[in-house]
Amino acid sequence: MGTALTPGERPHAVSSPEPTPFMEDRIVTDHLLEEEQHTEGTLRPQTLDAYTGQERMKESLRVCIEAAQRRHEPLDHAIFYGPPGLGKTTIAHVIAREMGGGIRSTSGLVLNHAGDLAAILANLQAHDVLFIDEIHRLPAAVEEALYPAMEDFQIDLVIGQGPATRTMKLDLPPFTLVGATTKAGALTSPLRERFGLVYRLDFYTPEELETIVTRSAGLLHVALEPGGAAEISRRARGTPRIANRLIRRVRDFADVKAQGVITQTVAQEALHWLGVDDAGFDDMDRKILLTILEKFNGGPVGVEALATAVREEKATLEDVYEPFLLQAGYLDRTARGRQLTAKAFQHFGRSKGDPDLFG
Ligand SMILES: Nc1ncnc2c1ncn2[C@@H]1O[C@H](COP(=O)(O)OP(=O)(O)O)[C@@H](O)[C@H]1O
Ligand SMILES: [Mg+2]
Repeated sequence: MGTALTPGERPHAVSSPEPTPFMEDRIVTDHLLEEEQHTEGTLRPQTLDAYTGQERMKESLRVCIEAAQRRHEPLDHAIFYGPPGLGKTTIAHVIAREMGGGIRSTSGLVLNHAGDLAAILANLQAHDVLFIDEIHRLPAAVEEALYPAMEDFQIDLVIGQGPATRTMKLDLPPFTLVGATTKAGALTSPLRERFGLVYRLDFYTPEELETIVTRSAGLLHVALEPGGAAEISRRARGTPRIANRLIRRVRDFADVKAQGVITQTVAQEALHWLGVDDAGFDDMDRKILLTILEKFNGGPVGVEALATAVREEKATLEDVYEPFLLQAGYLDRTARGRQLTAKAFQHFGRSKGDPDLFG
């Protein structure tokens, strides 16, 4: 890798053509990028002790896991919900390991037929975890086939065709279903009610993220000083996946510019160069907030008008950009539309009704 990096250039992409700009390529996306697919697994904590934060959830899981083990029973079916990148897939793996069983992973997006589900269920071993990601996306027929499997460890198999069709009950080994969803509201109530354990994952504090990035830096053999860890954690939007991504990108910068050592100053320079400001905003976040500030006098502004003004689709605005801005307290959703909070005004060093701006 050469040393002639210019601002905005992504060091990891130096040898390949720049990919077409795509919304989910933003550095602060909470979705998993393709280039991260193999490293993500290596950074996953494998035990409850190594899993940082989410203390109430862990405490509850510890008790339930121990109780299940004493009774030689599988853990109750558990569902985890919350925004992407907060550790849902990770906790499914941790549960399997703590229970001493294996894990089979699938997703509501690929389980299209009840037969596919039956094939997976029939191959489970006692006390395995069946992990279904995006479980709110299961087709209704598959979801219905899941109910007896969850309740009675049985599945109805349909055998034969036409008039000779009959159903047969197949006994399943006792297993634990672990579901994950980013949209708890999209779950049907019969499905939700069949989970004994329901947990919402919270965004992580900067201190928790510091623990996570420090651990990740060790695993990735990155020289990360405490000041650098603090800087990255503050800007990671409460999300471990983003924190881990920022380490890798900052590391690339540090390799080229600072002999590979991530000090606080190096982290600041790198993040600035990556376009991530000290609130963890990227260009699009700033564009959205500044548009409300400058064009709509701080709001309220209807989401359609806002989407048009920032030239983004309404659904993308709502699903991709707004959740963090709302959660972090920069944006309010009111009956009359989106409105900036005092915190947002402060971030941009403005106050509402500033004559310089609106005069
Ligand atoms: N509690 C945690 N402690 C340490 N690392 C975590 C934690 N939660 C998530 N991570 C890291 O963040 C990454 C994304 O987590 P993941 O479980 O895939 O999120 P989700 O399934 O909710 O989208 C994982 O690779 C893992 O390294
Ligand atoms: Mg996941």
